[in-house]
Amino acid sequence: MTNAREYARLPGFRDFTPGELALRNQLFDAWRRVSRRYGFEEYDGPPLEPLELYTGKSGDEIVGQLYNFTDKGGREISLRPEMTPSLARILGERSRAMPKPIRWFSMPQLFRYERQQRGRLREHFQWNVDLIGDEGVEADAEVLAVALDGLRELGLGADQIRARVSDRRLLSALLASAGVPDASLPGAYAVVDKVEREPRERTRERLVEEVGLDARAVEGVLSLFEEPGLEAVEARFGDDPAVAAPLAEVRRFFDVVADLGLGSFVEFDLTIVRGLAYYTGIVFEIFDRQGEFRAICGGGRYDRLLELVGGEPLGAVGFGMGDVVLGELLRERGLAPEYGREVDLYVVAIGEEQHALARRVAAAQRLRGHSALYALRPTSVRKQFSQAASEGAREVIVVGPDEVARGVALVRDMQSGNEEERELVSLLATTNPGS
Ligand code: HAM
Repeated sequence: MTNAREYARLPGFRDFTPGELALRNQLFDAWRRVSRRYGFEEYDGPPLEPLELYTGKSGDEIVGQLYNFTDKGGREISLRPEMTPSLARILGERSRAMPKPIRWFSMPQLFRYERQQRGRLREHFQWNVDLIGDEGVEADAEVLAVALDGLRELGLGADQIRARVSDRRLLSALLASAGVPDASLPGAYAVVDKVEREPRERTRERLVEEVGLDARAVEGVLSLFEEPGLEAVEARFGDDPAVAAPLAEVRRFFDVVADLGLGSFVEFDLTIVRGLAYYTGIVFEIFDRQGEFRAICGGGRYDRLLELVGGEPLGAVGFGMGDVVLGELLRERGLAPEYGREVDLYVVAIGEEQHALARRVAAAQRLRGHSALYALRPTSVRKQFSQAASEGAREVIVVGPDEVARGVALVRDMQSGNEEERELVSLLATTNPGS
C-alpha cells in the first residue's frame, strides 16, 4: 500500500494551487508591464546548463548550492541556480550582430540547494533585468529604476522599501588604502558582506584568520565601517586619487537616480558587497524598511562576465528579484490579490429538455470570447444557481420552456439582481454584433 505521505513534495519546493498561483501571476504581470515600459524585451534559456558555466564564475557560495549531476551522455550539468551566466552565454553567441545597448528581461525558475529558511527555498522564480553594452552609471541607475518601479507597481513605496547601494571599485580602493593587498580582496569582500550581521570581534577574527591581514590592515578595515556614510568617506579619503574617481561615479549615480524621481528610495551603504563573484562596479540590494525580511532584490554591474564566457567584451548591469521574499512581504502588507473564481456566464436549464439548448448557448458564448459554464449533468435549478454563485458567474442565462417558446431567455445580473429578456438568436450567434 502506498499513501500520499510517501509522495510528499521535496523540501524547499512549492505546489501552486490556483489561489497561490494568483500571487505569482500578479508579480509576473507587474514585472512584464514595467520591463516593457523601460523598453526591455523578454528572453529565456534552458533550465539545464553545462556545470562549468557556473564553476569559477558565480562564486563559491552558489557553486556549493548547485543541483548538478552527470547526464546519460556523461555530461556534467546543473539546473540553473541563476540566470546571469546563461544570459552571458546566449549573448556571447549573438551580441556582435545586435545594436547596443541590449535591454533584455526574463522570469526563470531557478534552483539552489540552500538550507530552507524564511525567504529562502530550493526553487524560486526570479525577475532578471539586464542592460548590456553600456558602461556608464546612467545605465546602472536605469536598471535600479526598473527594479524600484517594479515594486512601486505592486504597491510598495519609498516608505516601505529602500535600495542600499555601494560600488566595488570604491570598496576595493578603500580596502587598498586600508592596507588590504589585491590578492586578499575577494576574502575581504566576503567578510565585509557579513559585517552587519556579525559582532565586531568575529569580523576582526575573520580578517586575521581567513583573509590573513596584518594588525594595521585589520584596524584600517574596521575603521571604514565605523563611519560608512558617503560624506564621511569623502572627508576621510577624498584626497586619495584612487578613491576620488570611483567616489565621483557613485555621486553621479545618485544624481541620475534622483533625476528619475527615485531619490527617496536609495541610500549609500558600504556594507553591500553581494555574494556573487562577477560584480565589478555599482552593487545594490533592496530591502523592506522595517528590516524584517531578507533581500528582495540584488544586482549590480558585471563588466567582465560576457568576455569570460567567450563573448564580446561588453559592460553589463542587471538585477534579480525573487518571488519568495516579495510574496511574503506583499501578503504581510495586505497587498496580495484576493483570489476568487470568476466566469462571465452560467447557463441554467430549467428542465432536462433545455439542456441541449443551454450547451449550445454556452458554446456560442465561448466562441465570442466569454467564459461560460453549465451543469454537465441535469440537476435542480437551485443547485445550478448555487453552482453559478460559487463559480463567481457575473451573469446567469436562464433557459426555460416558456421563454424558449417565445424565442427568448432570461439574463440575470448576479450582482444587481436585475433581469432582462434577450433574444435566443442573439445569444446563439457566434459572432459579436457589429464584428
Ligand atoms: P542573487 O542575489 O543571488 O542574485 O539573487 C537575487 C534575488 O533572488 C535575491 O535577492 C532573492 O530575492 C532571490 N533569491 C535568491 N536565492 C533565493 C532562494 N534560494 N530562495 C528564494 N529567493 C531567492 C542573482 O542571482 C544575480 N544573478 C542577479 C543579477 C542579474 N545580477 C545581475 N543580473
